[in-house]
Formats: sequence, C-alpha cells, structure tokens
Amino acid sequence: MLSARNVIVALHEYHPPLGDRTGLRLDFNENTVGASPRCLTRLRALTVEDLARYPSREPIEREVASFLGLRPKEVLLTNGVDEGIRLLCETYLEPGDETIIVAPTFAMYEICALARGARVIAVPAEKGFAFPLEGILTAIGPRTRMIAIANPNNPTGTTATEEALLQIANAAPEAALLLDEAYYEFFGETLMSAVPRVPNLFVARTFSKAYGLAGLRVGVLAGPETPMGYVRRACSPYNVNTVALAVLPTALADTEYVDQYVAEVRRGRERLQKVLLERGIQYCPSRANFVLGDFGAVCKELVRSMNRRGILVRDRSSDPDCEGHVRITVGVEAHTDKLLAALRESLPELKSAVEVVR
Ligand SMILES: Cc1ncc(COP(=O)(O)O)c(C=O)c1O
Repeated sequence: MLSARNVIVALHEYHPPLGDRTGLRLDFNENTVGASPRCLTRLRALTVEDLARYPSREPIEREVASFLGLRPKEVLLTNGVDEGIRLLCETYLEPGDETIIVAPTFAMYEICALARGARVIAVPAEKGFAFPLEGILTAIGPRTRMIAIANPNNPTGTTATEEALLQIANAAPEAALLLDEAYYEFFGETLMSAVPRVPNLFVARTFSKAYGLAGLRVGVLAGPETPMGYVRRACSPYNVNTVALAVLPTALADTEYVDQYVAEVRRGRERLQKVLLERGIQYCPSRANFVLGDFGAVCKELVRSMNRRGILVRDRSSDPDCEGHVRITVGVEAHTDKLLAALRESLPELKSAVEVVR
C-alpha cells in the first residue's frame, strides 16, 4: 500500500481562510489596490508564443540582483517566499536537525521544517511580542541547522535589530539564518547588503505585498554565492512562470508607484494605531502593513461586525499567545478611511458586548 512519509502524515494541512473574500480585503496583508497599472499593460502585451516557451529566469535574476546591489550568483528568484523557505529546508535540513523559530510567526517555517523531518523549537516572543534575542541564543545547540526570522514579524509587526540578527548569525555558524523581509518596504531596514559577507545569512523578499503581485507568486532568496549554489541545485529551472518574469521588471521600474503606496500605508498604520490607543485597545506598534490588536473577549464579534460592514480582517486567536487578537491590514488612504469608519462604528457595539461578557 502507498504510504506517505511519517512526518507528512503527522502534518496538518495549512488552510488559510481564503473562501469568498468579497469586500475590502484587510485579512491577508495584500496590497489593497493592486500592482502598478503598468504591470497590466505589460501583461496584455504577452503573446501566445511567449506562453508557449519555457520561462528563462536568468536574465530577470540579473536585473533583480542589480536592483538589490548583489551579484547574480547571490540571488535566486522563487515562486514566492514560500518556495524560498521550502528550498532552504530541502537544502540544509536532515531529519532530526533543529530549526528555531519565534512564536508566534509565519506558519510556513514550521511546516517546511517539519516536512523535512526536522525538530522545530519555537521560542516565545517576549512581553509585548518583543523579539526574543536571549531565548534564541539559548536555544541554539549542536543540531541547529536553521533559524527562521521574519523582520518585521507576522502577525505582530514587531522587529529585530540588525545587531541582534548578526549576533544570531555569528552564534550559529552551522545554521542557515533565514531573514524573511517580506514586509521590508514598510519597515525600511534591511540586512541585504550583509549577504556577501555573512556566510550563513539568507535574506528573502517578496513581490506579494508592497508590489501587489501576490497572485503571480514571485519572490527572491538571496544568500552568499556557495550556499546559494546548493539551493539552486534543489530548485526547478522553471519555478517562476513567464507571466511573473515578464511583469517583474515593470513592477521594479515603477518606483514612484511603490513609494506612494508605502507612504500611504505608513500614514494609515499610524492613524489605525491612534484609534486603537484612543479606544484603549492594546496593540503591537507595527513596522509592517498591518497592526495586531488585542480585542479580548469580543475578538470574534469584531471580525463579524467588520465583515457586516464589508471589511475582512483576520482573527489570529489560534496563534501562540494571540487569543483575542485580530490582525488588520493597512492599505491606501481611502481604504484606511473606510476601515476607521467601520472600526469606530463597531467598537461602541463591542463595548456593550464586553460588558455583557463580564
Ligand atoms: C513573513 C511572511 N513571509 C512570507 C510570506 C509569503 O510570501 P509569498 O507570497 O512571497 O510566498 C508572508 C505572507 O503572508 C509572510 O507574512
């Protein structure tokens, strides 16, 4: 009889609540208005011949490397950051090896590591979901082969300092340090330039968030030349499709579009945090395009109330230490106006709900 590997049988399917997502989608940290309109023009110029050919990744990889200030051999285009995570696990994890993650964090690190048969050590975030530097340093052991850190972290929006990250890379020279910078544009700090000189540092970026290309599935994994050479061996030559490769240079070139989008998100993030503060709702000061608020006993009712007003937000209660927390994506100014209006309407309703619960 056909049987799957034990570690796969033990895995739960990761099933993000996509379903019917009509309304203003503030539940998946996507760009709320979509990519630069120039991307659509480029997409429309594609021909059936373009689609008939296998995609050629290298020319675009060279462009992206130059955009990142790296050499082509240090850069791999991936089918989203998700694929970069999987490739790193395939390249560097043997069964029984250890992977260190922060709890809570992005789910794919744990899934990909477990699928390799690795052991996952989840280090709880500190108070206020602060980055647990000491906890990670303490967790590093002789079998640590991977440490995955999202900076800013998802779902909290909290960050680690460059100093802390380099300290971790130094403390675990036999481990791949995956620094996931999916939300880099909204934060503005990066370790990308350290890639050529830190032998175990890999930095991932995505075009799913600020660039608005989540549906195309394209990301970047950067790392030092020799370690990246091994990752490349594990990768399909056609992992990024023709459409994504055609659109990517156009998306990168329209810097004005991304800058404008990021500026609106940053302003919206401050406005949302101010409203939460005024209403006495605890939140993590965020450096990403979302804010995690603690709505306690009325969390589920808040999600429903926002849904009724046409706004999707994400209940993160099942994440470690996140009971009662809702993650709210921030988009362009008009969407922030809509979000805050709905939140202001929902909160008084919820206040009476809290009283009922008490
Ligand atoms: C920290 C983090 N990394 C990676 C991803 C996924 O990126 P991609 O769409 O490039 O696979 C997400 C998506 O939510 C994320 O939050």
